[in-house]
Amino acid sequence: MNRAFQLQLIVILSVAVRLVTPWYYNCFEGTASESALLSDSCSLRNIVVRSDIDAQNVYFPPTNINFFQSNFSSFSPTLGRRLPDEAERVSFYNCVVPKFAIPTKLRALRLMFSNVAMVFTNYLTENAMEELVVVAAQITSMKFVEVFRKLRYLRIEGNPIQIVTMETFRNLTEVEVIKLSGNRIYFLEPATRPLELPKLVELDLRRNFLVQLDSSLWHSPSLRILTLHLNFLKSLNVEQLHRSFPHLQWVTLGSNLWNCQRLSVIMGSMLVRNISTYVTEARPGCQSFSFFEYLSLSGLDAISKTQLMVEQMEEVSTANYAELSNTTLLEDLRGRSDALVRKLKSLNSTVERVKNSYADVKLWIKGRANQNN
Ligand SMILES: *[C@@H]1O[C@H](CO)[C@@H](O)[C@H](O)[C@H]1NC(C)=O
Ligand SMILES: *[C@@H]1O[C@H](CO)[C@@H](O)[C@H](O)[C@H]1NC(C)=O
Ligand SMILES: *[C@@H]1O[C@H](CO)[C@@H](O)[C@H](O)[C@H]1NC(C)=O
Ligand SMILES: *[C@@H]1O[C@H](CO)[C@@H](O)[C@H](O)[C@H]1NC(C)=O
Ligand SMILES: *[C@@H]1O[C@H](CO)[C@@H](O)[C@H](O)[C@H]1NC(C)=O
Repeated sequence: MNRAFQLQLIVILSVAVRLVTPWYYNCFEGTASESALLSDSCSLRNIVVRSDIDAQNVYFPPTNINFFQSNFSSFSPTLGRRLPDEAERVSFYNCVVPKFAIPTKLRALRLMFSNVAMVFTNYLTENAMEELVVVAAQITSMKFVEVFRKLRYLRIEGNPIQIVTMETFRNLTEVEVIKLSGNRIYFLEPATRPLELPKLVELDLRRNFLVQLDSSLWHSPSLRILTLHLNFLKSLNVEQLHRSFPHLQWVTLGSNLWNCQRLSVIMGSMLVRNISTYVTEARPGCQSFSFFEYLSLSGLDAISKTQLMVEQMEEVSTANYAELSNTTLLEDLRGRSDALVRKLKSLNSTVERVKNSYADVKLWIKGRANQNN
């Protein structure tokens, strides 16, 4: 066993009124499957830092660090300053760390399966961050990434984020990959003036609640891959998409609320632009009747329509989604629609109106179904 990397670390936590309690930790080596991630780092388990007073007395090893199952009352700027210059890449796995102030010198940060709910960044100095990963945490906004001008890789996945504003990306001119799957994004607020992300190659929006995608003022000439499957899209402006992303090669469309005719038109117009509509994880499911067309005539606003679609989806999901889903997928869809319904229920003013129209529509569908039988 090569123990060259096994730095011995002394973390001394002192609490003003209590006795100073020294604790000793060894870095442990990663398992083989994680070796790429852990090989040049010190991994620490069960670190506990209860307060800023404790933080003054914490000494981290002079290398990259992975924390496992550790508790921080908050990862404060004070604690961040205790990180040595050698710590360029820091990761947190299964940690308790509700508040996180991102140290400006970090070049890579992973917050995985940790209960981070609030993230703070420093707007006054330059931030070195190039790779940021926040998976299965509790953040509701990703506005804070706007300060990371050097960011190349962004992955914010499985967080309860509902709205993303394109302005957030304005200064991220180096960004190559943006992965936002598995959040609850129902609105990608379009840019208000031309926005150029020249190096963006991949944009992953799968498993969200998107009802539309407006890329009109956004230009990413390098974008090759766009994943849109498992959303609530019912339409897509392919011409606009092609203008925004002239080198787009690959779009995934499966498991959205497409009307079948619309979907075949979309796929056709992508085909002539040499864009493959590859569908991973799901087949291109669509609704075979013009229910949604009917709704769009009723003059309800987009949000109300979404609610109708979601409610409608619960009804048809068994029929239309059953075959393309195993239980996992169905539960996921149900979970997503439940959450969206909850969100929309709070938009009280239109709900009653929607309910009334929905009752009419339900009758109308029943009528149609009876006619067809
Ligand atoms: C860390 O926090 C969790 C959740 O609050 C708690 O259950 C656990 O006992 C804490 N561990 C330590 C070592 O303080
Ligand atoms: C983005 O860049 C512009 C121009 O340099 C600057 O005025 C603005 O404050 C920056 N925004 C953020 C969030 O850093
Ligand atoms: C699509 O690809 C074919 C063959 O590679 C090429 O001839 C054609 O010009 C391309 N069409 C567009 C719109 O890029
Ligand atoms: C069910 O779907 C999930 C998500 O797409 C996939 O990971 C899993 O392998 C599937 N299970 C079966 C039995 O097909
Ligand atoms: C919705 O409206 C009803 C009655 O108009 C009210 O009792 C209820 O508190 C409202 N809900 C929300 C979330 O505003």
